[in-house]
Amino acid sequence: MKIRTSTLIELKKKGVRFAALTSYDMHTASIFDGAGIEVLLVGDSASDNVLANEGTAPITLEEIIPFGKAVARSANNSLVVIDLPFGSYEVSAEQALITSIRAMKETGAAAVKLEGAKIEQISRIVDNGIPVMGHIGFTPQTLHGLAGYKVQGRDQENADRLMAECLAIQKAGAFAIVLEMIPAELAKEISIALEIPTIGIGAGSECDGQILVWQDFAGLGERSPKFAKKYLNLRESLKEAATQYRSDVQNGSFPSADQQF
Ligand code: KIV
Repeated sequence: MKIRTSTLIELKKKGVRFAALTSYDMHTASIFDGAGIEVLLVGDSASDNVLANEGTAPITLEEIIPFGKAVARSANNSLVVIDLPFGSYEVSAEQALITSIRAMKETGAAAVKLEGAKIEQISRIVDNGIPVMGHIGFTPQTLHGLAGYKVQGRDQENADRLMAECLAIQKAGAFAIVLEMIPAELAKEISIALEIPTIGIGAGSECDGQILVWQDFAGLGERSPKFAKKYLNLRESLKEAATQYRSDVQNGSFPSADQQF
C-alpha cells in the first residue's frame, strides 16, 4: 500500500504505530521499502553519515538532492521525505518555499522536513501544496545554539515551550512532527495533545512512530547514540567479509573457476 501523509494520520487515529528510517541510496531504500517501513527520510544526517562532515549543518541542497533522487526512484510504497538543509529555509518564508519546490521537483520526494518552530515557513510551504514534517526538541542543525547534544525540555518552562511550538506547527499545517531527545513523559503528553502523529528519536515509546538513522539501526558506524538500538552488527560483518576477501585474493582462492570466463 502506498503510504501518504494522510495514511500516517489515519494510523494515529487507529492507534497503530509506524516505523521510519533514514535512507540516502537505492539499495537501502528498496530494502526498507520492501520491509514495509512507512517513512523513508532523506535526512541531512547524510552529512555526518555519508559525507564525513562534522554534524548536519555543512550539507547543502545541491548535495542532498542526488540522495533524494535515488531514494524516491527506489521506493514504491514508503513515504519519502527530504530534509531542508541548514541555511536553505531560515531566512524567510519565500526562501523556504523556493527550496522546498526545488527539493520536491528535482527528487520526486513526497514531503519536506525542517527543524524548529518556523511557523511562517511551514504555512507558506503547506499553502503551496507541499506537505511539511516538523522537527522539535534537539535540532541537530542548531547544535551550537543548543550548547551541544543535550536532552531538551527537561524543565517545566522549556517543556511548556516545546508543547506550544508543537501545537503551532500543527496549526501551521504540518502533517507530522519529529520529537528528538526529549523526556519520554513530555513526548507522551505532546503525542496525546496533537492530532498529527509524532515520530520519536530518543523520545520514549509513547510517540506515534519511531525513526532511526539507518547506520545506527544497522550498527554500521563506529559510535551510535544511547537511544539507538542496533538491530545488527553490520560494521563487524563487513570487516570480517573484507578481511576474508583480502585473504582469498592473497592466497589465490578468489576468483575460483566459477568466477572466471
Ligand atoms: O536527518 C536525520 O536523520 C533526522 C532524524 C534524526 C530525524 O533528522
